Amino acid sequence: MTASIDNTHFLLRRLHSLFGLVPVGAFLVFHLWENSQSRFGAAHFNETVVGGLQRLNYLPFLELFVIALPLLFHAGYGLAVIGSGRAEPLRYRFLRNRWYWLQRISGVGLMLFLLLHVGMTRIAGMFEPSIRADLFGHMQQSLSQPPVLALYLIGLWLAVFHLANGLSTAAIAWGLTTSANAQRRFGWLCGAFGLLLGAIGMHGLIGFLAAAGGAA
Ligand code: HEM
Repeated sequence: MTASIDNTHFLLRRLHSLFGLVPVGAFLVFHLWENSQSRFGAAHFNETVVGGLQRLNYLPFLELFVIALPLLFHAGYGLAVIGSGRAEPLRYRFLRNRWYWLQRISGVGLMLFLLLHVGMTRIAGMFEPSIRADLFGHMQQSLSQPPVLALYLIGLWLAVFHLANGLSTAAIAWGLTTSANAQRRFGWLCGAFGLLLGAIGMHGLIGFLAAAGGAA
């Protein structure tokens, strides 16, 4: 009985880790790249990038099974892990433990941000066709409000930190980095990946903002 509970727990833990990487992590990379295309102006963004995606066959199926359900599973199991409260950053002041704790905080912050972001874009677009038709204009208008811009900056860096730090912990969970040296080296690589991904995300935000200032 205990063995079967342990096996289920192990399997759920592995699925949580896998879904964080693929498809959710891969989608985050794709999504930030997609938004970075805002630098090429409203017509390119709306017609080529967003329009191209909206014309994909089986789009609702892909959104549900490739993005929404894996993300919901990852977030749900993540909340259960947080509820079990294993990290004790105040008692153990090791760097790794702090990052373990930050992984959880960023997960919860990210969940709140994603609710807002999906609500403002995908859900709002279902009720208001003009948002779907001109997502560029919608983002440009939203981001020109300082509180919204601040939320997007926080959301972007929470997501980037969560994925980059998650990559390094996933490598430990899957037995790819076993020695302390390998974990340190891979940690630097994940840090560099995070900076690159964050720069791509900033590039996208600047694309909408530059257009708001009339530069695009
Ligand atoms: C863009 C969305 C997200 C991505 C790309 C993502 C990715 C990842 C990755 C790659 C890991 C590492 C898995 C491992 O260590 O094996 C992870 C861990 C974690 N994620 Fe997420 N995640 C996202 C959203 C969320 C959300 C919304 C929550 C909600 C609370 C969450 C909670 C957690 C927790 C608690 C962990 C640590 C699990 C542990 O160490 O046992 N994540 N995430």
